[in-house]
Amino acid sequence: MLLALESSCDETAAAICTVEGEILASAVASQVEIHRRYGGVVPEVASRNHILHVRPLVEQVLEEAGVRLADIDAFAATSGPGLVSSLLIGTSMAKALAVAERKPFLAVNHMEGHLLSPFMAGNGPPRRSVALIVSGGHTMLVRMNGVGDYRLLGQTRDDAAGEAFDKIAKMIGLPYPGGPEIDKLACLGRGDAHDFPRSFLDGHSLEFSFSGLKTAVLYELPRLKLEDPAVLADVCASVQEAICEVLVEKLVLAARQAGEKLVTVSGGVSCNRGLRTRLAARCEQEGLILLLARPDLSTDNAAMIAYAAAQRYKLGQTSALEADVDPNLPLVA
Ligand code: KG4
Ligand code: ZN
Repeated sequence: MLLALESSCDETAAAICTVEGEILASAVASQVEIHRRYGGVVPEVASRNHILHVRPLVEQVLEEAGVRLADIDAFAATSGPGLVSSLLIGTSMAKALAVAERKPFLAVNHMEGHLLSPFMAGNGPPRRSVALIVSGGHTMLVRMNGVGDYRLLGQTRDDAAGEAFDKIAKMIGLPYPGGPEIDKLACLGRGDAHDFPRSFLDGHSLEFSFSGLKTAVLYELPRLKLEDPAVLADVCASVQEAICEVLVEKLVLAARQAGEKLVTVSGGVSCNRGLRTRLAARCEQEGLILLLARPDLSTDNAAMIAYAAAQRYKLGQTSALEADVDPNLPLVA
């Protein structure tokens, strides 16, 4: 069994899984309410709250799984990318547990956690596919040949998809984090109410850009009566359409270019209902097999970190206790 900790941003999380990847317990302590009053994550505040939450969470998952600390075979933690002061809390705790229990430590790349998450909950094992990872900090297309064999096909030149959702939500007066708020209101609006720009760049590019969309909404603001709920819902639906159309079409293009039938989507933005609906329809039309991470495994959690660690552990890989955190840790070196 592996015990993993996740503390790369504002969620503290712990999970226990078997070496085969079965999740025995998973718990997340969200700090969303604390950061909402600042309109975004304050790193120092996040770090201090990780310290408060991490130990009770370890105790909670041990109890939930019905196991003792001594039963754990390896301890893992997210070592990057993320906020350095946040990453330090989870990794220090996991290393301390590994030293105390004389067990190995595994440093896990947060993006590998997202990348492998669609294969959890009975969809495994991780195998050849083209992946779209859409989170608050990243938007990438990755060619996966197997665990640890990844090739970056494209990524965003500016904002990540989640960042675009969050920044535009803030501009139109919605609370942090804005992605789920836009998702909720989009259901009530018309996606074709505003023709916001889609940055496809050139026809073959697998790179993304969302800054033009943000600027377009900003220029439109003075003309919008956002106090009218119908107007607000139309803006949300149109923004969501603009982001999701680009995400879906680029994933289809990447699969076509790679000659791959299996596609996966993960990361917080993959919870978006508009995106999930559009993906399902478009993949069926293209004859693609779609694996989506379960919503509770899409936003930041430690189960995906435990699962990624288990894949590495099975291959006989562990990390040195000296392994440092890296706020900019790349998925593909
Ligand atoms: O993967 P994640 O939990 O954390 C990072 O690694 O960044 O992703 C968080 C991002 C935030 O930008 C949040 O607004 C977005 O995922 N998000 C959504 C939805 N749920 C979370 N965006 C659009 N629609 C949603 N339903
Ligand atoms: Zn994440």
